[in-house]
Amino acid sequence: MRTNYCGAINTQYLDQTITLYGWVHRRRDHGGVIFIDLRDREGLIQVVCDPDNVETFQRAEKIRNEFVLKITGRVRHRPEGTVNTALFSGEIEVLIADMEILNTSLTPPFLMDDDNLSESVRLEHRYLDLRRPVMQSNLRLRHKVAMAVRVFLDEHGFLDVETPILTKSTPEGARDYLVPSRVNAGHFFALPQSPQLFKQLLMVSGFDRYYQIARCFRDEDLRADRQPEFTQIDIETSFLAENEIMSLMEEMIRYLFKSVRNIELPNPFPRLTYADAIFKYGTDKPDLRVALELVELTDVMQEVPFKVFREAAEKPNGRVAALCIPNGGKLTRKEIDDYTSFVAIYGAKGLAYIKVNKLDDGLEGLQSPILKFLTEETIKAILTRTAAQDGDLIFFGADKAKIVNDALGALRIKIGHEHGLAEDNWEPLWVVDFPMFERDEEENRWQALHHPFTSPADGHEDLLETEPGSALSKAYDMVLNGSEIGGGSVRIHRQEIQSKVFRALNISEEEAQEKFSFLLEALQYGAPPHGGIAFGLDRIMTMMTGTESIRDVIAFPKTQRAQCLLTHAPGTVDEKQLRELNIRLRKTDLPKS
Ligand code: AMO
Ligand code: AMP
Repeated sequence: MRTNYCGAINTQYLDQTITLYGWVHRRRDHGGVIFIDLRDREGLIQVVCDPDNVETFQRAEKIRNEFVLKITGRVRHRPEGTVNTALFSGEIEVLIADMEILNTSLTPPFLMDDDNLSESVRLEHRYLDLRRPVMQSNLRLRHKVAMAVRVFLDEHGFLDVETPILTKSTPEGARDYLVPSRVNAGHFFALPQSPQLFKQLLMVSGFDRYYQIARCFRDEDLRADRQPEFTQIDIETSFLAENEIMSLMEEMIRYLFKSVRNIELPNPFPRLTYADAIFKYGTDKPDLRVALELVELTDVMQEVPFKVFREAAEKPNGRVAALCIPNGGKLTRKEIDDYTSFVAIYGAKGLAYIKVNKLDDGLEGLQSPILKFLTEETIKAILTRTAAQDGDLIFFGADKAKIVNDALGALRIKIGHEHGLAEDNWEPLWVVDFPMFERDEEENRWQALHHPFTSPADGHEDLLETEPGSALSKAYDMVLNGSEIGGGSVRIHRQEIQSKVFRALNISEEEAQEKFSFLLEALQYGAPPHGGIAFGLDRIMTMMTGTESIRDVIAFPKTQRAQCLLTHAPGTVDEKQLRELNIRLRKTDLPKS
């Protein structure tokens, strides 16, 4: 029987005989004595095999990295000069009395303490990668967060209810993963993009407070903070207003960070309207660690000679804005060129700038390729609004507002972090007062900014028909250090409002019935006022562990190409399986995965 975990032994156990199980982290031969670093999930311990113990010594000579051992021995002090203060067990070692090799191992493709591995090698051998202490620690932290979520929600009266994985399409705006039905030929299930509709139905059923740590599936273009299947902490309550839900939810997030990582988040979280967020930061998920803000210049550029600025300022949805970089004057030509290429990713056609060398010298003290196209009055306005100081550099964006916001918003983050203008801190906030709809320019119609079950703000119901673009909603997002970690809303609980929203979205009565008849019907059987939120557990874990990649907090993640390198999913299937499903592939020359 195991008496202890390897990593949990220290001088408290001196002279005790203990039994350990673990993996050979490393074996060293030292002039007749064999040292083994034995590893289990709690850490490393040094065990020593003495040649006097002849039989065991012969066995020890055969062992290699990652063999699985059972050892029994006595805990003793390490000889002076060999103490390793980095290890919990660093002052002691175990003199082996008996050792059993429980299993051998092939030579692993990498060492467990190698921190410079390519991600594909790691993902191909994920079960080995997960042996590495950093991955063990990430997943353990994830477990702790999930436990803390359950404790908090249980204490606040939330019930864990499971909802189906084989279901109908749920509208969160991504493509569905489809599953063909064998029994019902030609019919498909969709995997849930979220449990949204079911949690609303549970409120109609009177459960009052629901939660689920729920797997969600979205077939969308993958980015650094996205996975095709990911986990939500999904929550819904009845009879609570927007503010009450938000207070309770930020209390939960404060509790998680405090109990798991001993991090104090502010109380309360600051709130910012969507409009202000876009205006000041160019994005609805601002990173408040960066002190820079965009400066509005659209109004002062209406009549300037510089065509680029004037045309953007005159457009109905154009914007001219500036970003003043303190001490930016020391940026080199090359750095400015690099930033210009960077903003081009967001569609910006250039990145005009003014270097402010010496304000007292008037125009002479400024340096810029665009000065000649601006009036003196405009230049004054720019300097006043940006409050530029000697040594600063002012960047400009001029285009459709969306492009300016995306480009300068991203530039703000990049320069902020690259040039020490960001605090090393935790900066959560709520973004509120989202519009109900956004314009889909390509399809020339309105789209729900969140999902179509989001309630309009009080007094905005009539705008749904008269002025949809101005209607605000009761939606809220929680943002932490520039990452959207959660989003939710108060829902529509009355059918006539739901119908108005569908009309504004140009969803016909028939289409609504076809897609959501069950929900629309349920709303007519005494649906209580209700609302909720879902947090991205993977994103919260990415932040808490401080890792670069969302894949480092998921045991078996997918790559950016939505593949699993370990199992080689997705894969092709037998003709027989396809026939059973009544499916014929359109092309025979599909690329082999
Ligand atoms: P939403 O679509 O905003 O809301 O999702 C909630 C949170 O889930 C996380 N998230 C993701 N994490 C990893 N990979 C992805 N592909 C991914 N997509 C989303 C984000 C996000 O804030 N039903 C609504 C919630 C509600 O209204 O209650 C919903 O799903 O952190
Ligand atoms: P040009 O007249 O095109 O040579 O541009 C003069 C300066 O304005 C250059 O520094 C460009 O990078 C910059 N510029 C051009 N288009 C834009 C734009 N849409 N927004 C901001 N700066 C721009």
